[in-house]
Amino acid sequence: MSLEDLAAHLRRASRLTVLTGAGISAASGVPTFRGAEGLWRQYRPEDLATPAAFHRDPILVWEWYAWRRALVGKCRPNPGHDVLARWSRERRCTVVTQNVDDLHHQAGTEGVIRLHGSLWELRCAGLPVPGRTRRRTGVCDDEWRDDRVPFAETPPRCPQCGGLARPAIVWFGEALRDSDLRAATAATRCDLFIAIGTSAIVHPAAGLLHDAKRQGAVTAEINPVPTPASGIVDIAIHGAAEDVLPRLDLLLSF
Ligand code: OAD
Repeated sequence: MSLEDLAAHLRRASRLTVLTGAGISAASGVPTFRGAEGLWRQYRPEDLATPAAFHRDPILVWEWYAWRRALVGKCRPNPGHDVLARWSRERRCTVVTQNVDDLHHQAGTEGVIRLHGSLWELRCAGLPVPGRTRRRTGVCDDEWRDDRVPFAETPPRCPQCGGLARPAIVWFGEALRDSDLRAATAATRCDLFIAIGTSAIVHPAAGLLHDAKRQGAVTAEINPVPTPASGIVDIAIHGAAEDVLPRLDLLLSF
């Protein structure tokens, strides 16, 4: 099946859901996780992206997140984000993302469901700041946004209780927020479900495509390389999101 077939399904779809992964932000300069230059090729997730890693060495984890914030802070949405932003306003398209870069939001996408949180949001870790006099923590569930690069102090602290802050990101071994998972699951009741720029291996996000298919949606994938999803989707388009989405958008106007 071709791009024209996907465009035909898009024209007919009254409810469209798109699941995005790191690949949609690759053209903006945000590193992916598992590609040739991917973050998980250079770093071990168990050292940097688990609650145990944070307990063990919060300064190391914060240094890594501060580096990513500085890098992503310079990135801007690309034409792939722009097309999805327009579809969210004009085509009843729900965007569910695994990305923590907030580029969908920056592009003006309405109602983005962020499954893995945001690099720009922090919450109280309920732990004392290393090297400081211990104080009572662990009762504060404050969450806030902080766009500053660099932070006023590293590691950043909870403005409520002065305890250690952590990234408001879903780490390996942690559950997604109930409200996000519920919203994403509801979005699988759609006519067309497109997975874009994801290796389709991290659950529960990867399971959403299967849920959509089980409920009768036409399924599609946009990715330069085959993934575990390629064999089950109805339409697999091999190409980069920043090229394919604008072409698809153009086809919709004919
Ligand atoms: P991955 O790095 O696993 O996969 C990125 C996918 O994007 C790969 O399949 C690439 O082939 C594809 N890709 C690369 N360039 C592309 C382009 N220009 N257009 C379209 N696709 C392109 O990233 P995710 O699938 O998002 O979790 O990874 C899922 C989760 O694993 C992430 O959210 C992250 C990670 O651990 C957390 O941080 C919690």
